[in-house]
Amino acid sequence: MTSPDSITIQRPDDWHVHLRDGEILGVVAPFTAKQFARAIIMPNLSSPVTTSADASAYRDRVKAACGSADFTPLMTAYLTDTTDPHDLAAGFADGVLTAAKLYPAGATTNSESGVTDISKIEAVIEKMEEISMPLLVHGEVTDPDVDIFDREAVFIDRVLQPLLDRHPGLKVVFEHITTQPAVQFVRATGPKLGATITPHHLMINRSDMFKGGIRPHLYCLPVAKREQHRLALREAATSGEANFFLGTDTAPHTVAAKESACGCAGIFSSPAALELYTQVFDEEGALDKLEAFASLNGAAFYGLSPNADTVTLERKTWRVPETVSVGDDALKPFMGGEEISWKLAG
Ligand code: NCD
Ligand code: ZN
Repeated sequence: MTSPDSITIQRPDDWHVHLRDGEILGVVAPFTAKQFARAIIMPNLSSPVTTSADASAYRDRVKAACGSADFTPLMTAYLTDTTDPHDLAAGFADGVLTAAKLYPAGATTNSESGVTDISKIEAVIEKMEEISMPLLVHGEVTDPDVDIFDREAVFIDRVLQPLLDRHPGLKVVFEHITTQPAVQFVRATGPKLGATITPHHLMINRSDMFKGGIRPHLYCLPVAKREQHRLALREAATSGEANFFLGTDTAPHTVAAKESACGCAGIFSSPAALELYTQVFDEEGALDKLEAFASLNGAAFYGLSPNADTVTLERKTWRVPETVSVGDDALKPFMGGEEISWKLAG
């Protein structure tokens, strides 16, 4: 069967985005707003978004950065050891908050104020279970004795499985999964557990980070894993199964912050995210499953209607910009300078 030269799907959403704040927000938000109707906005600003009031103020700044684009930011609260369950519930009830994010303290960028031990937020989790507020988890343990490539698999055994056992009604999104055990775990758990998958984890493995030298722009957390895991993620994403949905984890850091003796974790994928997913689905002979992954499964998980309008992607070779300027510095997009084979029309 030959593959089509264009595909029209219901307009997609991005269920995991870092838009930052200030000057970077103004530069990166339009990339997301151009492709996606809605996005889950991560709260790990350098001063994290921990309360409903913070989320409301940040939402205003995001909307301002998107100008006239038809785009809805869905806000999240950053959980800390002292999160107030009542503030969270009030924010969820009045629509300011869509979900809350668990960063184990020290797991990733700006996670220093994260949760030091999940037992500390038991009352918060009980409240979230009661009101069906999704808990989004950065699924890696932080124990320095656990090898960095094993931190996701160990998180499943030590944290996630016990959490789901204690709270069978809790809705959880296992964010940016990177391993075959995570794919298997999500499949085995059922509809209360969803998972986002990034474009870069579908496209690179851990060897790519060291191809010809160290490649700081391919470093993110959770770090890319072996090839067998990349293949398991491709199979899961293109399966059409309801638990797996699009979440780019676009995470811009300036060139100065990435190309450093201690470079930041995060891959800036938003300039070509939807096109890269489309390329992967095409390579897998699964363009017919793109709409489920990009536009239907996530909305259904969050209890939202899919978007009414559509987008069209065309088979067309183009070059992803090598850099995007921010003041005196720049951002380097994922696949920047490379030719890719699908383009969003219009
Ligand atoms: C993210 C960031 O830079 O905020 N970095 C990353 O490598 N993905 C944080 C995160 O999602 O872990
Ligand atoms: Zn992220």
